Amino acid sequence: MRTIAIVPAAGSGKRLGLKVKKPFVPLGGKPLVSHAIRAFESTKEIDGIIIAAEPVLTGRFRVLVKRCGFRKVIAVVAGGRTRFESVGKCLAKVPASAEVVLIHDGARPFPEKRLISGAVKAARRYGACVTAVPETDTVKLVDTKGLFVRKTLDRRVIYRAQTPQAFSFTLLKKAYAKAAKAATDDSSLVEALGKKVKVLEGSCRNIKVTTREDLRIARALL
Ligand code: C5P
Repeated sequence: MRTIAIVPAAGSGKRLGLKVKKPFVPLGGKPLVSHAIRAFESTKEIDGIIIAAEPVLTGRFRVLVKRCGFRKVIAVVAGGRTRFESVGKCLAKVPASAEVVLIHDGARPFPEKRLISGAVKAARRYGACVTAVPETDTVKLVDTKGLFVRKTLDRRVIYRAQTPQAFSFTLLKKAYAKAAKAATDDSSLVEALGKKVKVLEGSCRNIKVTTREDLRIARALL
């Protein structure tokens, strides 16, 4: 097992405001989370998959893995209170033989093969890779209350980070062990070690389903 994909799919999913738990919201007749898992099942570079699920949902996830015939899933772990904690718990299950660990949000149903393969390749070459899209809006830095503009940023150097992100296993373990505080992505922990992270241009289709509007967009993108 040289290359492992971690899929954080825990958390409350409250912002979606639906009764159905987010990973199981239907998208094209299949549970939302199954789209991301299927992408890794069918990418030859990925040898094993580890999923973080909300603790009460681990059983349902195991049923889903069986029903969908996902053969690469090696563990479904109970997630933590934050994404950072959930990924940390998955990292503890990564086999010692792993060289590269790729992380992809379960809430992003459309990770393109080009991004999965590209991120793994870049992690092998540079140690760390983040997929990200160049910003097209003008970006303002505002005060903490969001009331007044502090500064306008130069959008030519602003990219929006997505997943997949991929890393050398050794480097990622170190980044998590040394993390001073929880982060909202994995790249930032590696950056905090002073390591360079390669940018791979992501895709506007690779959206994260957070709100109902996102879900409508995801359904339209199918
Ligand atoms: O909260 P955010 O939108 O940044 O979540 C990104 C990903 O992290 C989602 O796929 C979500 O399921 C996952 N997550 C997690 N554990 C948490 C919170 C979020 O695995 N406690």
